[in-house]
Amino acid sequence: MKTRNFVFQSIEFRYMTIKEQINQLRAELHQHNYNYYVLNAPTISDKEFDDMMRQLQDLEKAHPEYMDTNSPTMRVGSDINKDFRQVYHQYPMLSLGNTYSEDEVSDFYERVKKALNEEFEICCELKYDGTSISLTYEDGKLIRAVTRGDGEKGDDVTDNVKTIRSIPLVLHGNYPPSFEIRGEILMPWNVFEELNREKEAREEPLFANPRNAASGTLKLQNSAIVASRKLDAYLYYLLGNPLPSDGHYENLMAASQWGFKISEHMKKTHSLQEIFDYIKYWDIERKNLPVATDGIVLKVNSLRQQRNLGYTAKSPRWAIAYKFQAERALTRLNQVTYQVGRTGAITPVANLDPVQLSGTIVKRASLHNADIIEGLDLHIGDMVYVEKGGEIIPKITGVDKNARILVGEKVKFITHCPECGSKLIRYEGEAAHYCPNETACPPQIKGKIEHFISRKAMNIDGLGPETVDMFYRQGLIKDTADLYQLRTNNIIGLERMGQKTADNIIKSIEASKQVPFERVLFALGIRFVGETVAKKIAKSFHDIDELAHADIETLTSIDEIGGKIAQSIVSYFKNPANQSLIERLKASGLQFKRNEEDLSGYTDKLAGQTIVISGTFVRHSRDEYKTLIEKNGGKNSGSISGKTSFILAGDNMGPSKLEKAHKLGIRMVNEDEFLSMLS
Ligand code: IVH
Repeated sequence: MKTRNFVFQSIEFRYMTIKEQINQLRAELHQHNYNYYVLNAPTISDKEFDDMMRQLQDLEKAHPEYMDTNSPTMRVGSDINKDFRQVYHQYPMLSLGNTYSEDEVSDFYERVKKALNEEFEICCELKYDGTSISLTYEDGKLIRAVTRGDGEKGDDVTDNVKTIRSIPLVLHGNYPPSFEIRGEILMPWNVFEELNREKEAREEPLFANPRNAASGTLKLQNSAIVASRKLDAYLYYLLGNPLPSDGHYENLMAASQWGFKISEHMKKTHSLQEIFDYIKYWDIERKNLPVATDGIVLKVNSLRQQRNLGYTAKSPRWAIAYKFQAERALTRLNQVTYQVGRTGAITPVANLDPVQLSGTIVKRASLHNADIIEGLDLHIGDMVYVEKGGEIIPKITGVDKNARILVGEKVKFITHCPECGSKLIRYEGEAAHYCPNETACPPQIKGKIEHFISRKAMNIDGLGPETVDMFYRQGLIKDTADLYQLRTNNIIGLERMGQKTADNIIKSIEASKQVPFERVLFALGIRFVGETVAKKIAKSFHDIDELAHADIETLTSIDEIGGKIAQSIVSYFKNPANQSLIERLKASGLQFKRNEEDLSGYTDKLAGQTIVISGTFVRHSRDEYKTLIEKNGGKNSGSISGKTSFILAGDNMGPSKLEKAHKLGIRMVNEDEFLSMLS
């Protein structure tokens, strides 16, 4: 990677006015974003980028008069909750007619040929499988990003979209003064897989595919989380008047010069054969792309010809989608086995005759839960269809009932845990069955230990699932408290366990005794107590004993702790096995007390008040105000309602919020008044 000196480090920078410095940094950062996220060719290191960004943030903070909503600093998002405003599309967002066979593609081609009765070009493109977005630019600046919604109107998700680094906030080159560009927001496969791994560790439901993950992320209320999810975007449709050219392809090539990420895989074709070749090539090659695609889009290239062809009520006559066939295979179901997860959830797994599917050999597929098995009316020996589609885990989508010559035994969901024999339970409203034997069912024990040692919990290095499994099989650990009884001598000489590795593990276990109360709480693995809930609880109780004696009412009075979480906490502490585990962990010296120093600056001046922060501020950031509210006993809320005590109002408050506040007669407090309330 090349590095170079920046203008901002040079002498000239020092002689610039503040405004010029800010503009210079913004321009450079926009360019580096583009180099990295669109061109995939960074010219500076991450550290240099971060340093520049920090310098700009500092300048902007000190000089709020130069605030710009399209500054690169806006990409980090904000943690303000907001309801999305509905916006009408200037041109409705139509969908495309779908085709599934070469014959249908050929019909489309012939229809176009007949209607135009002149030469034409078809632009072939990949059909990206994400969530569609419409971006409006005026004078080279992104002013609005709206989801498809119902095609007529969608949600204004501008703040979230600004966090997507491959979407330019300001353009360069010779762009038209006002235009709209549409495209697809995507979550790359690697980001999706990582996100699901994290979700799994937190026991949250997984996203089934990157499309759901992308659209779910785009609708998050908190744009700071959106920023962390690393979405990407390809643009594929330019609208406006004037546009640079009569060619769709040529317009997109121009847009790529202005800073947009345009697919490199578009191709202008002049015959049906060329189209079929494109389809055939990408049906295979798409598996090597970093993002999901589910077909090919064919578009008549000339805008004049597009206008001639026109639209049906739902879709253009000048374009069509060819959908790739979800890969499907037929194979025999030999057996259904059941896996027990760390929470005790039971997953039924179909064991199949090995079959080739999307380049891998599939022997097992998820059957999800008892209802799915029942719905398929599965019998052992059935010939079943296995599909991968956009999902990661193959699933059984049907049974070839004609192939049922000898009907095997009907698949019945088990009633007892295959690992420990406990009777399974099914919570009301839940699809899954659970093994309730939390403290003695082996996969649950191992799972709990793995969670306990994980990075965000006790962060015990050097211990992975395999080592945990080995220690468990050797009888060295039966629960998390046993970890603190391990000595180097106990583990040295075990498989792949030399002096150094053993020492490191023991050192890391010892160091975990300093992990603060909130993370210890999270590490315990109480159902529904994730990182955020653990933090809230740790702030509200002096120590674990106080928490252990809290009743449902006390727990639910804490912000964001609902009945389900409270009930789970109460049951956890009621269980004598958990009580003795905590006593043993305490005896080992873990932090079961809140660090009172963290609470300095806390008052109850805002106790009982629900406050909505809105607009932009000069003296502190929104985050700082949020913390101030919490530290002084108040509650932050994202939306205005009858319960709002007052609004901490900055500049540029949104019109809908203003209107609502006036309607409900809610008091507005500016930042100076607010700070004096606390002083
Ligand atoms: S063009 C009027 N091009 O597929 C035509 N769409 O049902 C506007 N899509 O909602 C769409 N890749 O979300 C177009 N290269 C591509 C596309 C594409 C994916 C999506 C888009 C649209 C849906 C069509």
